[in-house]
Amino acid sequence: MHTITSPAAGQTSAARPVVRVAVAGATGYTGQELLRLLARHPAVRLTLATSSASGSAARRLPALGRVWNGSLTPLDPNALTREADLVFLALPDAATAELAPKLVEDGLRVIDLSGAFRLRDAAVRARWYPETHAVPTGTAYGLTEFERDVVREARLVANPGCYPTTSLLALKPLAAAGALLPGADVIIDAKSGVSGAGKTPSERTHFSECHGSVSAYGVLGHRHGAEIEQGLGGVVTFTPHMVPLDRGLLATIYVRVAPGTTEEALGDIYERAFANSAFVRLVGASLPAIKQVVHTNFCDIGWRVDPSGRAIVVSVLDNLLKGASGQAVQNMNVMLGLDEAAGLL
Ligand SMILES: NC(=O)c1ccc[n+]([C@@H]2O[C@H](COP(=O)([O-])OP(=O)(O)OC[C@H]3O[C@@H](n4cnc5c(N)ncnc54)[C@H](OP(=O)(O)O)[C@@H]3O)[C@@H](O)[C@H]2O)c1
Repeated sequence: MHTITSPAAGQTSAARPVVRVAVAGATGYTGQELLRLLARHPAVRLTLATSSASGSAARRLPALGRVWNGSLTPLDPNALTREADLVFLALPDAATAELAPKLVEDGLRVIDLSGAFRLRDAAVRARWYPETHAVPTGTAYGLTEFERDVVREARLVANPGCYPTTSLLALKPLAAAGALLPGADVIIDAKSGVSGAGKTPSERTHFSECHGSVSAYGVLGHRHGAEIEQGLGGVVTFTPHMVPLDRGLLATIYVRVAPGTTEEALGDIYERAFANSAFVRLVGASLPAIKQVVHTNFCDIGWRVDPSGRAIVVSVLDNLLKGASGQAVQNMNVMLGLDEAAGLL
C-alpha cells in the first residue's frame, strides 16, 4: 500500500493508506462498471485493468473517456500480484475458478463476481460450477447487508448473483422473523435485462430475438435457484425471464404469511432488517419499478398483503450495480474499513 498525505474527497483522515486495486475482465459489462466506480473512488487507486486476449494490442474503452485514462493489458496473474493489493475478478466462472486461489495464495484480497465460489455445499457446487475444485480458506458470501462481519475479514469474497441479491434481500428478513408460513411455496418470478447474460451475443440475446419479446429460460434448472435456496435455507420455485431492457432486474415474489398479517407488520420487519443499510430502500405498498434503480446501487423493495395471508413482494435493482459491480465495491468498502457507501452514492 502507498500513503497519501492529503484527505481524498469524502475522507476525513489526514493520512490514509491508498489501496491499489485491479480489475480482471475490465472489457466486460460488469468490468466496465467497476472501472467507472473505482476510477472515481475516494480511497483506492486503480492500477491495472485487464482484457482476456494475450498478446493483443492495447484496447480503448470509448464509454470511459475522461473517466478513466488507463490502458487495458492482457490478463497476467503475476502482474496482478505485483501491482495490486485487492483484485476484482469479472471473468467467466472457469477462468475465476483457476485464478482466484492463486491470487489468494499470493496474499491478495479478491472479490469475485462470478459464481465459482458462491455455493458452500460441494455436491451442489459440483453440479453448477464443475470447474471449481477447491474453495480457499477465508471465503465469504458477499450479500453485504447480511454478511458484513465475515466480509470484513475475508480473503476472497464471492459476490452474489443478480437474481439471488434481488430475491434474498426481499426474503431473508421475512424468513429470519419467522413470518413465512412453514411448508408454503415460495415462488420467485423474475425478469432481467439482456446485459445479465454478458457481452458475448448468443441466439437468446441477439437483438432480433429479444427485442419486442419476453421469454422464460432456465426453468426448473437455473443455478441461481441453488444460490437462493442456500441463502434462504429452503426450497424455492424460481423462474427467470429475459425482457427487452439493456439493464435492470425485477423479482415478483409470492409467499404465504399467517392470515391477518398486515402490511404494517411486514414493514416493521423490513425496517428492522435494513435500519443500517444505505442501499435498501423500502417503498411499501407503492411497489418499485426498474426505472427507479438503474445506474444506482439501490435495491428497492415493496409489498402487498391480503387478509388471507397472500403476500407479494416486489424487489428491483440494476443487475450491473447492486447485482454485481456496485455490490462488489460495497464489499470492498467493508473489507477496507471504509464508509460502506464510499464511491457509490
Ligand atoms: N452481467 C451481469 O449482470 C452479471 C451480474 C452478476 C454477476 N455476473 C458475473 O460476472 C462475471 C462477468 O460478467 P460480465 O457480464 O461482465 O461478462 P462479459 O461481459 O462477458 O465480460 C467477460 C470479461 O472476461 C474476459 N474474459 C473472457 N474469457 C476470459 C478468459 N478465459 N480469461 C480471462 N479473461 C476472460 C473478457 O475479456 P475480452 O473482452 O478480452 O473477451 C471480458 O473482459 C461473470 O462470471 C458473470 O456470471 C454478471
